[in-house]
Amino acid sequence: MNIVVLISGSGSNLQAIMDACTGGQIAGRVVGVLSNRADAYGLVRAAGAGIATAVIAHRDYDNREAFDAAMQQQIDAWQPDVVVLAGFMRILTSGFVRHYEGRLLNIHPSLLPHYKGLHTHRRVLAAGDRLHGCSVHYVNAELDGGPAIVQGVVTVHPRDDEQTLTEKVHKVEHRLYPLVLSWMASGRLVYREGKPLIDGDGAAGPVKLLF
Ligand code: GAR
Repeated sequence: MNIVVLISGSGSNLQAIMDACTGGQIAGRVVGVLSNRADAYGLVRAAGAGIATAVIAHRDYDNREAFDAAMQQQIDAWQPDVVVLAGFMRILTSGFVRHYEGRLLNIHPSLLPHYKGLHTHRRVLAAGDRLHGCSVHYVNAELDGGPAIVQGVVTVHPRDDEQTLTEKVHKVEHRLYPLVLSWMASGRLVYREGKPLIDGDGAAGPVKLLF
């Protein structure tokens, strides 16, 4: 399975995916890493692993359509089976999303559909929630929308602050993305009629794993 990863920053999820490929957990390989920011540390991680990288800066384009078209051209040149958003912080056009329908994944640091958008950990703490986590989902044109495949659930302790919660959820993300990609590579996870099916079953909604 050819994996293309889109990043905007640190790329710790990218690192987890690269490690899972080299370690044999995912029957696939990362064939390209694209960033909209030239200073994203994930580019250093990818280059260090001998993986092709590209920078397509959104600021160089007049509008989202032109930016997405440039990205699509680069991504398609890498011939991906799956395109993985890993901390990629741009909103995508519906044309781009449609082009990759069923092979475009995102990870989001909340139990979707709760807390779409930014500052999820802060908002969870402000609301006094006892449970939090992250979701891997297929991407549709709605921001942080699209059907969730797997959710990693953590408990929020009274002593947690934004930093401890961020770290806790990040650790879970690093296990969740490789798991979902391993299922995709082995054929356990498929996309049918807009929904994820795991081992042929999709009726119960996302798989919830407690950490
Ligand atoms: C991750 O926590 C990911 O869930 C979040 O950005 C971080 C990237 O970390 N993504 C979103 O908020 C998308 N809406 P990383 O660069 O170290 O992988």
